[in-house]
Amino acid sequence: QLGVFTPQTLVGRRILVTAGGTRERLDPVRFLTNDSSGKMGYAVATAAREAGAEVTLITAPTKLAAPASVTVVPIQSTTDLSQAVLARFPQADALVMAAAVADFQPEVTADQKIKKTTGNDEFILKLKKTPDILKQVAAIKQPHQVTVGFAAETQNLLANGQKKLASKSLDLLAANDVSRSDIGFNGDDNQVTFILPDGVTDQTPKTSKTVIARALVDRVAQLLADK
Ligand code: CTP
Ligand code: CA
Repeated sequence: QLGVFTPQTLVGRRILVTAGGTRERLDPVRFLTNDSSGKMGYAVATAAREAGAEVTLITAPTKLAAPASVTVVPIQSTTDLSQAVLARFPQADALVMAAAVADFQPEVTADQKIKKTTGNDEFILKLKKTPDILKQVAAIKQPHQVTVGFAAETQNLLANGQKKLASKSLDLLAANDVSRSDIGFNGDDNQVTFILPDGVTDQTPKTSKTVIARALVDRVAQLLADK
């Protein structure tokens, strides 16, 4: 039985989680993406389910198995992800944006495979900004709703994290230092610094993504209880 060993802090709550690296299509056989494995988001979805929540996991392609008893919504691009999140957020109590969202997408996606043009030794790819999903969510967020972001930084973790938290109207940000090769994007372990709107920060030890996900879920439950 689920939850025997986990405090049921999220019973009756609907939690939306995003995971994986979005894919931005160039043509039918090519796309731009990033190194995200999806492990952090899947761990959050699993932890939220174990805490008794009704969980929807909106996921870019990963190599991971779907967590048990979670509704899975597969997406590819940032545009897909944006639509999927905005359609479900109004019914959610909390959103955890663990997806590694592309910041830019090809200005045009070719219908047919792009050919090597003869006599041309370079190919210039024009990209345009993707929508910032957390900013879109901030515009429709209700006072009872909790939003959580992740921030990947290679420098000035706290200062950049605090700016992101404020600009996206988040209740909590989990910032991690992706310049370190021992944690983050692809591994099983992570270390994050939780940043709160009042400036309080709390660094977790380096531990499994499962343990970090449980700590994050505990915080979400507390934030919901405090609203
Ligand atoms: N995010 C989002 N929409 C985007 C890009 C990012 O909702 N178009 C979310 C991510 O899922 C994450 C948070 O915003 O929860 C921070 O992502 P990050 O890439 O660290 O920050 P950006 O705002 O994209 O800024 P930059 O990459 O320039 O540091
Ligand atoms: Ca980004």
